[in-house]
Amino acid sequence: METQSQWSSKLGFILASAGSAIGLGAMWKFPYVMADNGGAAFLFIFILFTMLIGFPLLLSEFVIGRQSQTYSTRSFSKLTGKKYHDLIGHLGNIGVFILLSFYSVIGGWILLYMIRTIYVLVAGSSQHDYEGLFGSLISNPFYALGGQALFIVLTAVIVANGIQNGIERASKIMMPLLFTAFIIIIIRSLTLDNAMAGVSYFLKPDFGKLSADSILFALGQSFFSLSVGFGGMLTYASYLDRKTDLTQSGVSVVLLNLVITILAGLAIFPATASLGIEAAQGPGLLFIVLPYVFDQLPLGQLFYLIFLLLFFFATITSSISLLEINVANVTKNNNNKRVKAVALLAIGLFVLGIPSTLSSGLLGDVKFLAGTFFDNMDYLVSNIMLPLGAFLFSIFTGYLLDQRLSHQQLVTKPYQEPLFKLWIFLLKFVIPLVIIGVFLSLILK
Ligand code: PFF
Repeated sequence: METQSQWSSKLGFILASAGSAIGLGAMWKFPYVMADNGGAAFLFIFILFTMLIGFPLLLSEFVIGRQSQTYSTRSFSKLTGKKYHDLIGHLGNIGVFILLSFYSVIGGWILLYMIRTIYVLVAGSSQHDYEGLFGSLISNPFYALGGQALFIVLTAVIVANGIQNGIERASKIMMPLLFTAFIIIIIRSLTLDNAMAGVSYFLKPDFGKLSADSILFALGQSFFSLSVGFGGMLTYASYLDRKTDLTQSGVSVVLLNLVITILAGLAIFPATASLGIEAAQGPGLLFIVLPYVFDQLPLGQLFYLIFLLLFFFATITSSISLLEINVANVTKNNNNKRVKAVALLAIGLFVLGIPSTLSSGLLGDVKFLAGTFFDNMDYLVSNIMLPLGAFLFSIFTGYLLDQRLSHQQLVTKPYQEPLFKLWIFLLKFVIPLVIIGVFLSLILK
């Protein structure tokens, strides 16, 4: 029996949605890609894609979710009467399962580093070979799988507690803490000697450094970082009352995500520049460069722990939204089945995640197509399934869904009328064409 849950407040919904959006995408991948690809020039392109593509898709997920008030593998047909439209929900349901299986690998690394930093603080011991430490932690199957399992268990416990007591409560506690931790770290980072060199390295616009690849990344990032394309925002909006203004909520989520994206760079680059370190790429930045940077500061390990905590909050508030999509679909919103479904899904995620976790160790030499098993999972989700999901969402809302339904959901004030027309135009013509263009350029490369 369907027992539809509800958020207790509009703030809860916005914080949970912002929590889903703000994650490894904005805080881990974006800063170093931006710094390598023309700084503010890249940011400008990303903001443009966010406004013209990510934001309209976010509203499309909100409209479908709130109008249908049900889980994503049923909501499409509930609105149009055509069963095969639910395939869009099925694609997302599979996509998030694969995504979470490797998202939790990085979540596990963050937990391992938190445990290690607490140990350093308590025992007073210290070790300075961070490159060696990182390599040995992530390649040790016992640690790496343990970290991943712990991350999945923590995600599962929150989701098992339901919408209000689990997801909403966690978001209301973690998101304000995330902002506070950010402020502490940024003040610390910006008051270091030579901090401004880092700010300008990060922000100085250099349009010459924009390549086709960086534009493709900015596009992919505009859906990935707003969690659109797989029905995550649809699921969260299905728990929303009829009164809340969807456009305003969407604007809040987009702005919070943009602010955090920029703040992440402002936290990281002044710190690296003040020590004259070239910002390393990807995993290296958080796990090798930053502990080294913080080591040089008084109370550095304490600041590093705050930094890791901030990453942890950002990551887990995204992973709970990923798991919730599966849980809503598996239980068909029957809350009596929630705990059992969470437990089974968690075991499945762990098993599917094993080869991704071992990709940094035992299976590191097993390479095919896009690289290691982890790389292939990432490629499949980020470059194929998510853009396909985003494409189908735009077609569904632009062409298949009765526009009167969307109008009812979105237009509550007269000034929203022209925006509604623009939204439909973007969904019908601009977004599908841009995504097809990207697919073609990937295939022809
Ligand atoms: N927005 C998350 C991030 O940037 O890390 C990732 C994500 C979460 C994508 C939930 C899709 C999703 F449904």
